[in-house]
Amino acid sequence: MHICRSIAEIRNVMWDLATDGSVGLVTTMGALHAGHMALVAAAADDHDAVVATIFVNPTQFGDAKDLENYPRTEETDLAMLRDAGVAAVFIPDAAEIYPDGEETIVETTHLANILHGEVRPGHYRGVATVVTKLFNIIQADAAYFGEKDYQQLAVIRRMVRDLHMPITIHGVPTVREADGLAMSSRNVRLIADERYDARVLHLSLTVAEALIKEGKTVEQAAESIRGVISSKRSCKLVGLDIVDAETFAPVTGVPTKTIGIMISVQFLQVMLIDQKEIAI
Ligand code: PAF
Repeated sequence: MHICRSIAEIRNVMWDLATDGSVGLVTTMGALHAGHMALVAAAADDHDAVVATIFVNPTQFGDAKDLENYPRTEETDLAMLRDAGVAAVFIPDAAEIYPDGEETIVETTHLANILHGEVRPGHYRGVATVVTKLFNIIQADAAYFGEKDYQQLAVIRRMVRDLHMPITIHGVPTVREADGLAMSSRNVRLIADERYDARVLHLSLTVAEALIKEGKTVEQAAESIRGVISSKRSCKLVGLDIVDAETFAPVTGVPTKTIGIMISVQFLQVMLIDQKEIAI
C-alpha cells in the first residue's frame, strides 16, 4: 500500500493506478471503524483499485476544541486499510491542502445552510471545499460516502452535479453497533451513561418510521422522536428535520413521497447525528 503525504506523491501513484483500471475513492478523517470499511468494501466491489484519504479537515469544524479532540489513530487506520487491500492512502497535512489559506471556497449556497447546516454554520462549506480539493487531486472514477450524514451526501451530490465534476457518487448504508447506534469516530467520546443512552437515537427513528408506515403525520412522528430522546437525561435534541428526500424541502402532514428524517443530539462533549430514509 502506497502511503503518500504530498500531492505530488499521490498524483504519481494515481498515474499508474488509473492506467491499470478504474479507481474508487473513500475520503475519511481517520479514526476508522466498520462504517468506513463498508465504504472501502463497496469501492473494492466496483473498481480495480481503492484509494483512501485521511485528513482531519480544519475548515469543517466550527469549534477549535472539537477539532483538537477529534480522535487520531493513524497507525491502526493504516493497518485496517492495508488489510482491506487498499492500493494507496493520501495523508496530507493542513499546509498541503490549504497552502495559502481559504481564499477559494466551494459552497452549495442553499443546501449547506439549512437544517444541520444551521446548527453547524460553515460545516458543509468546509466539507464541499475539501472534497473538491481531494477530487481534483486524486481524480478517481467514483467516490463512496456514508448515508449516515444524509445532508453531507446531498451536498456532495449537488456540488458534483452543479460543477460538472467527472466522478460518480455512491451512498452506502449506515453500519450500526448491536444496539443500533450508528458507527461514528465520535462515539469513543461518549462517557459510560451517554453510550447507553445513545441507543435512543436509532430507536427514536425506528419508532417514527413505524408511525409513518401506519399512516401518521410527520408532526406525530416528530413528537414521538422528541419524546423518546428526551426520556434520556444525557441527550439533548438539537436538530430534527423531516424533509422530502429529493428536494430537502420540509414536509408536513401525511407524506406522499420518500422522506428523510435527520436528527442531531448533543451530549456533554460530542454531538451525534443519525438519519432514516422512509420510502412511501
Ligand atoms: O465524512 C467525513 O468523514 C468528512 O466530512 C469528509 C467527507 C472526509 C470530508 O472531510
